[in-house]
Amino acid sequence: MNTVLSVASEVAPLIKTGGLADVVGALPAAMKPEGWRLITLVPGYPQVMERLENPRRVRRERYCFGGPGNVLADEVAGLELLVLEAPHLYDRPGSIYLGADGLDWPDNPERFAALSWVAARLAANGIDGIDVDVLHAHDWQGALAPLYLQEMAADDAVGTLLTVHNIAFHGWAEPAKLRAMRLPRALYTHELLEYHGRVNALKAGLVTANRISTVSPTYARELLTPEYGMGLDGVIRTREADLTGILNGIDEVAWDPAKDPAITPYKSPRGKAKNKTALLKEFDLKPGKGPLCVVISRLTEQKGLDLLLQCLHVLAERDARLALLGTGEAWLEEAWRKAAAEVPGVAVKIGYDEALSHRMIAGADAILIPSRFEPCGLTQLYGLRYGTMPLVADTGGLSDTVIDANVAALSMGVATGIKFNPVAAPQLREALNRLCDIYDSDDGFVTMQKNGMAQPVGWAASAPRYAALYESLRCPD
Ligand code: ADP
Ligand code: GLC
Repeated sequence: MNTVLSVASEVAPLIKTGGLADVVGALPAAMKPEGWRLITLVPGYPQVMERLENPRRVRRERYCFGGPGNVLADEVAGLELLVLEAPHLYDRPGSIYLGADGLDWPDNPERFAALSWVAARLAANGIDGIDVDVLHAHDWQGALAPLYLQEMAADDAVGTLLTVHNIAFHGWAEPAKLRAMRLPRALYTHELLEYHGRVNALKAGLVTANRISTVSPTYARELLTPEYGMGLDGVIRTREADLTGILNGIDEVAWDPAKDPAITPYKSPRGKAKNKTALLKEFDLKPGKGPLCVVISRLTEQKGLDLLLQCLHVLAERDARLALLGTGEAWLEEAWRKAAAEVPGVAVKIGYDEALSHRMIAGADAILIPSRFEPCGLTQLYGLRYGTMPLVADTGGLSDTVIDANVAALSMGVATGIKFNPVAAPQLREALNRLCDIYDSDDGFVTMQKNGMAQPVGWAASAPRYAALYESLRCPD
C-alpha cells in the first residue's frame, strides 16, 4: 500500500481546537479505500500521551530542540499514530498554543519546528522499515517539513504536499531563533524564509512543497487575492499551477442524526421536535414564534460574531431564539455574556463541549455562520446533515456547500440555506429576516431541510481527489 506521513498539531478525537483536528482525524479512514495508508504524526501533549495504550518506540532523538525526544507508535481510536514525546516542548497544562497569559507560548517556533523536523526525518528514513511516499503537512505547524526534507537531500524520493487550513496563522519567529530551529542562516532570504524581517514558517512551506492544497475550491481562488491572502497572496500566485482546492467532508459516523447517541435520533425533520424542546430547556429559553438559531464557534474576528451582536434586535422582533456555544477572545466572550444578560431570547454558554454541540445541531432550526472568511467550515455541513438550515456568509467553503434560497433555487426546489454578501451587519440583518420569512412559510422550510439532509457531506467526492493528488506526488517505483 502507498504510504503518507501526515503531520499536524491536532488530531480528533485526541486533541482538538477546531476543524483542523477533525480533518486530520478523518483523512486516514477516508483514504484507506483509495489504497492510501495514512500515518499521522502529532506532538506528545498530555492529552495525547494519556490516550496511548501500547506505545512502541520507533525513533530516538537525543537532541530534540532543547531536550530528549522519542517517536512512539501506537494505534488509538482506529488511527495509526506517531507521537513525538518531548516533555520539554509539549508537556504543559492548558492550551496547546497559548500560555496562561493568553499569548502564544514563547517557544512555539521551536515546538513546531521540532515536529516538522522529525516528520522530515521519518519521511526521509522510513518508519520502521516502511517507506514514505508522500509527506502531507498541515498548516504552519507542519509547514517547515518540506524545507527540512530538502535540506536532508531526501526530497527526490518523497513528494510533499502542504494543506492550508487557514492562511491567518503564519508561524512567526524572530530571526534570532533560526539556529534553535535548525534553519541555516543562508535560507533566511526573501525568496524563502524571510517575510518583513521575521521568519515565516508558512511561507517556507508554500515555496518548497511540491503541491499546495486548501480546503475548498472557492478558498483556493480567494487565496490568490490580496483581500484573503493575508500578505501571502503574492507567494501563492507564484504557485498557482500547483494549488488545488479540495472540499472537506465530515465524519458521517460521528455526525449521524439517525444514530447519534447524544440526541433523540431522527431520520426526517419532524423528528427534531423532541431535541428542540430539550435544547430550549437546556438553555433556559422559552419557545418563540420564530426559529431557534444556534452558533457553535471559536470566538474570533474570523467568525464575524461581532456582526451578529449588531443584529440581535432582528431576532427579538421576529420572536426568534438564539443559543450560542463558544470560546475564544476575551472581548467577544464578554460581549456575548452581556448580550445574553440584556437581550431576551438570547442564551450563551462560554466553553467547549462536544456533546452539547451535537444536541444543539439536532435541536436547532438554523445554524448561523457569518464568517469574514472561512476556508471550509464544518458546522454548516453538520447543519445540513441534521436538517438544521445553514445561514452563512457567502465566502470560502461556505459558498461551495450551501445553495442559497434565491428565486431560481426555490422554484426548482433545490435550496438548502441562506447566503449573504458582503459580510456586513445590514446584509446579515436582511438574511436573518429572510430566514424568518422562510421559517414562517412552513412547507418551504421543510423542503429546504429535506434537501439539506439529502446532500452528500462526507468524504466520497473528496477522497479520490486527494488520492489523485498523492498519486501525482509519488515517485514511480
Ligand atoms: P474552525 O476550524 O475555523 O474553528 P470549522 O467549522 O472547520 O471551524 O470547525 C470547528 C469545529 O470545532 C467543529 O467541529 C465545531 O463543532 C467545533 N467547535 C467549535 N467551537 C466549539 C465549542 N465551543 N464546543 C464544541 N465544539 C466546538
Ligand atoms: C480551519 C478553517 C476552517 C476549516 C478547518 C478544517 O480551521 O478555519 O474553515 O474547516 O480549518 O480544514
